[in-house]
Amino acid sequence: MAAREAVKYVEDGMVIGLGSGSTANKAIQLIGQRIKEEEIEVVGIPTSTGSDLLGRAVGIRMGELDDHPQVDLTIDGADEVDPSLNLVKGLGGALVREKIVAASSNVEMIVVDDSKMVDYLCQKSPLPVEIVTYSRKSTMRKLAALGCVPELRMTEDEPFVSDNLNYIVHCRFGRIDDPRAMEAEICMTPGVVDCGLFIGLASKVIVASAEGVRILERAERSYEE
Ligand code: A5P
Repeated sequence: MAAREAVKYVEDGMVIGLGSGSTANKAIQLIGQRIKEEEIEVVGIPTSTGSDLLGRAVGIRMGELDDHPQVDLTIDGADEVDPSLNLVKGLGGALVREKIVAASSNVEMIVVDDSKMVDYLCQKSPLPVEIVTYSRKSTMRKLAALGCVPELRMTEDEPFVSDNLNYIVHCRFGRIDDPRAMEAEICMTPGVVDCGLFIGLASKVIVASAEGVRILERAERSYEE
């Protein structure tokens, strides 16, 4: 339902950021459907190998961010949304490209169901942090010193490797009271590429629940200040 609502904002000629995860995948499929039924044309900018493959499969003309550095609208999912519309993202392992595309987008539209709405960030979810493989142990020790329990994300017996050929660490924080300050601290840690705190980046959050769809909106994105 949330994806269906978001895709109504897609217009002919737009450059569209294609998010990652199951809800964003729904949106990608629905964009493909609109392209076929309404003969609109858009350029898709993928946030992951997965969204690139799916975009192509459903008939979206895919482009490179470097050729389209200003994205009109991005539709992406999230793992948590707090009352200020700050987010935890990255449980799908695509946080680095998702944040780059979000920061390049005029409108960052987040599609979630009610279960993702939290009182504070990291209430339910660990925080994904992408790190370079070279210094895994030392970077994880430094992350632990910030007050979390870091765990290397695994796929069966091997560490999960991101699209950027890095590792992902899932950090369990009890509670993050000042997410902007925490994002800065995490991202200043040597070996960290980026983290899944998306602060001031979401323009709209479309929340689907049993009662229907509601749209939460931020007047101004503090990211741009
Ligand atoms: C991908 O890296 C994540 O940021 C996703 O946006 C997030 O995990 C949401 O995915 P679902 O829509 O599958 O819950």
